[in-house]
Amino acid sequence: QQTDKELLYKIHEVANDFFQNQLFESEEGKAVGYSYFKERELRDEIIRKFQLGYSPEQRNAFTEYALNKGYSKEILEKSGLSVFPESVPNGVDRFRERVIFPIHSFSGRVLGFGARILKSNVKTAKYLNSPETEIYHKSNVLYGLNQSKQAISKNNLCLLVEGYMDVIALHQAGIENVVSSSGTALTVEQIKLIKRLTENVTILFDGDAAGIKASFRSIDMLLSESMNIRILLFPDGDDPDSFSRKHPQEFVENFIKNEAKDFIDFKAEILLKEAGEDPIKKAEAIRDIVKSVAFVRNALKQEVYLKEISNRFGLSEQSLFNELNVQKQIKN
Ligand code: GTP
Ligand code: MN
Ligand code: MN
Ligand code: MN
Ligand code: MN
Repeated sequence: QQTDKELLYKIHEVANDFFQNQLFESEEGKAVGYSYFKERELRDEIIRKFQLGYSPEQRNAFTEYALNKGYSKEILEKSGLSVFPESVPNGVDRFRERVIFPIHSFSGRVLGFGARILKSNVKTAKYLNSPETEIYHKSNVLYGLNQSKQAISKNNLCLLVEGYMDVIALHQAGIENVVSSSGTALTVEQIKLIKRLTENVTILFDGDAAGIKASFRSIDMLLSESMNIRILLFPDGDDPDSFSRKHPQEFVENFIKNEAKDFIDFKAEILLKEAGEDPIKKAEAIRDIVKSVAFVRNALKQEVYLKEISNRFGLSEQSLFNELNVQKQIKN
């Protein structure tokens, strides 16, 4: 007798094969899904490496396939891949007419899927993901970790990007030490996964308001887990995917190496630009930077950071220490 968990792993393997098969073998999959990936300039080898797939338009294509293979309605519902409303006893697939991104565990088992619509003018969500299940807990998983773990160890550096396509495009560009939290806020569990491989993270987020906000939050999370961090936002509406397709690998590598800033310079640049000449806003900006220093767990590191802030802004270390203590009290 197999446990539900074992069955869930199996059904995800079956689904993963089904979606890949659809992409490469079915007329619809080739015309719609495969050509979508080609428009996005993905080569076959990278489509295979990330096991990308396609879910057909027919509303119960996968459900029918799995039922015929002997999987029960109950386990299909538990997997999040099918629903069985009373009015539709044959069931409805969760993913329809989308390209499919399987989400793997650290060791390479398929835990769930992300799925993107093909046209961007449709009102529905651009990406639809598997729900939380007995085997998929999104806060414990990093997209791309299975494919990137060796390069992360070898480079002693993990690049952190926003999305599925960013991970895949960087791999195609020869930059293979990269993971994504795929649109959810970075968690402590995810950071601990990275920490098994390296303590060095470079954040590479989109240069829009959402990317700035996410990077500020991620900085504090990573600092509180004692990670060494650098940050780079891509210019002019680019993300790692679009940027890496515009420039040769060496340029992208050097760009990341040379343009990534430490968190003090990064926050200072953004916050001081917002503040302009307004002294109150300037003070708020500096407080905001000190707030991040309060997340650093090591007292010696904290002091080094405060010295840097002191030099940079011509402020006394004493007043910065006072502010740090205020921020620590607010936190606790
Ligand atoms: P592309 O348009 O395919 O290049 O996507 P992107 O990755 O550049 O999209 P964006 O920067 O908007 O989002 C980054 C990541 O957030 C995506 O890869 C998804 O993981 C996630 N995301 C984006 N839009 C949605 C959405 O509508 N729903 C959910 N659940 N996640 C989303
Ligand atoms: Mn978005
Ligand atoms: Mn974005
Ligand atoms: Mn993006
Ligand atoms: Mn993108």
